[in-house]
Amino acid sequence: MERTTSAALQSSDVEDRSLRPQYLADFVAQQETKELLSIYIKAAKARNETIDHLLFYGPPGLGKTTLANIVANEMGVNIKITSGPVIEKAAELAAILTSLKAGDILFIDEIHRLPKIVEEVLYSAMEDYQIDIVIGTGDETRSIRIDLEPFTLIGATTRYGDLTAPLRERFGIVRRLDFYKIPELNEIIQRTSKLYNVEIAADAALLLARCSRGTPRVANRLFRRIRDFAEVLNKGVITLELTRNALIKQGVNISGLDEIDRHYLEALILKFNGGPVGLNNIATSIGEEEITISEAIEPYLIQEGYVERTKSGRLATKKAWDELNIKESLINKKK
Ligand SMILES: Nc1ncnc2c1ncn2[C@@H]1O[C@H](COP(=O)(O)OP(=O)(O)O)[C@@H](O)[C@H]1O
Ligand SMILES: [Mg+2]
Repeated sequence: MERTTSAALQSSDVEDRSLRPQYLADFVAQQETKELLSIYIKAAKARNETIDHLLFYGPPGLGKTTLANIVANEMGVNIKITSGPVIEKAAELAAILTSLKAGDILFIDEIHRLPKIVEEVLYSAMEDYQIDIVIGTGDETRSIRIDLEPFTLIGATTRYGDLTAPLRERFGIVRRLDFYKIPELNEIIQRTSKLYNVEIAADAALLLARCSRGTPRVANRLFRRIRDFAEVLNKGVITLELTRNALIKQGVNISGLDEIDRHYLEALILKFNGGPVGLNNIATSIGEEEITISEAIEPYLIQEGYVERTKSGRLATKKAWDELNIKESLINKKK
């Protein structure tokens, strides 16, 4: 059985790429972000300049990588893609930066995970298109300055708070991506069904949208699984009944919570009396990493009002108790 939460929220797979919108016009929702980007892109092109450094942040699967690629397409420039944990040494970043041609985009995913000494190279690169690198060893070291071609840095992160202030301040444009609303996910599902050339009934699409945790990546992933069921069992026709059965078989609850969400809520309520409980305790109790919980599981549960993050820990709301059908009074709550 697929763990829809962890698996579906992790990095994109091959099929994701074929669905990835190429231009702003194909990118569903996030209206304000699209409008702003469109203006900045037009202005930069009209002046024949690079677009200002851009930072996208928000939970996984909402379109950060997609937008970075779209900006490159709209600007008609090359994009070089790397990620924070991959660059270990200042010299590695220097090599990437010096390879950029005028106007190119450098996309650094998970930019909060850049080592500090690497990050420091970025400061002058972003500000002045210059880097200072130290060469030689022992008494012979000296620093040389290298000029770079003007470029645009696009950073993406799920943890805006982990970015240092000096790095944050060097981005001219900072946009947060929010979870998508059901009609918006519905639109993404319609788009996916057209691209795959598979018909989906309107009520089936809506159910899928409701079960997608506000996340396009999850919507597409679920769509592909449902399509498998439809092809094998129903001549490729996606009906409401087929969708419902296929979702249930995959452990997706029709309320939009999946197996792991429920596992989390059950632990919070049954083992910790609804909290407050610390992240590390919850993590140990359900055998997931803290980072998976705080970045992939909780944001949706919090947005939907099942869980609150308080100073003293995670707290289950009444909605969570109701969802699991547990009466608060049945549990001996010690406060
Ligand atoms: N606004 C959108 N419209 C249509 N599809 C989207 C949108 N945002 C994301 N997607 C789909 O979801 C997938 C995951 O998006 P991605 O950009 O990789 O997310 P992130 O980088 O934020 O984790 C993409 O491959 C794309 O198919
Ligand atoms: Mg990404």
